[in-house]
Amino acid sequence: MGRAFVYVILGGGVAAGYAAHEFVKRGVSQGELCIVSEELVAPYERPALSKGYLLPEAAARLPSFHCCVGANEEKLTPKWYKEHGIELILGTRVKSADLKRKTLLTATGETISYKFLIVATGARALKLEEFGVNGLDADNVCYLRDLADANKLVDVMKSCGGGNAVVIGGGYIGMECAASLVINKLNVAMVFPEAHCMARLFTPKIASYYEEFYESKGVKFIKGTMLSSFDFNSDGKVTAVNLKDGNKLPADMVVVGIGIRPNTSLFEGQLTMDKGGIKVNGKMQSSNSSVYAVGDVAAFPVKIFGETRRLEHVDSARKSARHAVAAIMEPDKTGEFNYLPFFYSRVFTLSWQFYGDNVGDVVHFGDFMGNSFGGYWINKGHLVGSFLEGGTKEQYEAIAQTTRLKPAIQDSAELEKQGLGFALTL
Ligand code: FDA
Ligand code: NAD
Repeated sequence: MGRAFVYVILGGGVAAGYAAHEFVKRGVSQGELCIVSEELVAPYERPALSKGYLLPEAAARLPSFHCCVGANEEKLTPKWYKEHGIELILGTRVKSADLKRKTLLTATGETISYKFLIVATGARALKLEEFGVNGLDADNVCYLRDLADANKLVDVMKSCGGGNAVVIGGGYIGMECAASLVINKLNVAMVFPEAHCMARLFTPKIASYYEEFYESKGVKFIKGTMLSSFDFNSDGKVTAVNLKDGNKLPADMVVVGIGIRPNTSLFEGQLTMDKGGIKVNGKMQSSNSSVYAVGDVAAFPVKIFGETRRLEHVDSARKSARHAVAAIMEPDKTGEFNYLPFFYSRVFTLSWQFYGDNVGDVVHFGDFMGNSFGGYWINKGHLVGSFLEGGTKEQYEAIAQTTRLKPAIQDSAELEKQGLGFALTL
């Protein structure tokens, strides 16, 4: 059994939704495009899963957060795909890809052929088993990557009201889930190996602001150690987390956020890889000219830094997807992807944005006792990254614009004195 399309998007996450929207904007014909996704629902804004989805009241539920509402654009419900003649092949895992024949084979035995393939397979959550700790199947150990994970997390959280939650990992998932658990009235302890939270991005000074804020909400930080094992009861539920430093934390539930791995396995040996993902050029085109890669799985040239990077953030998924579609449909009019990395998070009443690259020396500014502060990263005499907590729309736009310009910085003390004013007046 087989079906043929001109354009096939493999994966049904954020990048897939934005790619479909761009195809329609540029005039795809009925029946030319399909999305093949393991998930059971049409593409949605994944960031909602660790925020609105976990609220105790008025929680976000589909269809409210289908793509592309996260970019304040139209909401692509299953009806939208139907109206535009886009085939949504859901609940279907692709188990192999034959790039010479330009075909995908699904787990249900169907062959799907394409003229152009957009790989948007995203990433999977790393599992504790990969670090030698058992507990994956326990009813009260939760990961968070897709809707099924989020539903399990909500159910477990509701069944543990007032109990103890242990969060493993001090990155994005750890921080956002810890905040949600507190809002749901659980007692939260966070465990991670680094000296401070969000070690991939935050400076110790920025991290200490968030840690103090979390502590004021009752969160306990256990830093510089990792878990070694779980204790289980006779039902197979985790009852405690044993740490490498010898301590034991009681646990009614556990949330694990220890990083991700891009879903590249279908293409190993068929496409050139880089930075753990599929290497693409400035048009998001892989080493096979019919195959494009976008979102978390793509390693692309970040022009502003003259380096290939793989980014794991929603803005990059949205924009790289749109760029790939432009490059496929209007190759002569589409230049190189010129992307300024953008990360953000929202927890409790806090909200920060970061643009650029976090390398070099950092100049902090603003009021770390209040709720508006930030930092500039200076590398080789130029401002290359900007962070701001509690900014307005105009202020965030100003730091983005400043970072894009990479201004030369001669005097760090003067920059510190000017603080946010530097970006606002540049
Ligand atoms: P994404 O993971 O969205 O989609 C991949 C799709 O491919 C899935 O539908 C999957 O089922 C499918 N797939 C994979 N292999 C397949 C196969 N073999 N066959 C069929 N289908 C297959 N970022 C940010 O900037 N700000 C934020 O606040 C957040 N918040 C956030 C919360 C949570 C809970 C998560 C998990 C992630 C975030 N992120 C984020 C990160 C952001 O969501 C992420 O960068 C994008 O979802 C990446 O989009 P992709 O489309 O590349 O992958
Ligand atoms: P992460 O890379 O942000 O953080 C992983 C954390 O786990 C780090 O603190 C790390 O030290 C810790 N860790 C690693 N191995 C460990 C181990 N064996 N034991 C204990 N701790 C360990 O990854 P994440 O938080 O899992 O997030 C997953 C993905 O979701 C990322 O791609 C992230 O960008 C994305 N995400 C982004 C946002 C956002 O941008 N606001 C929000 C949620 C998720």
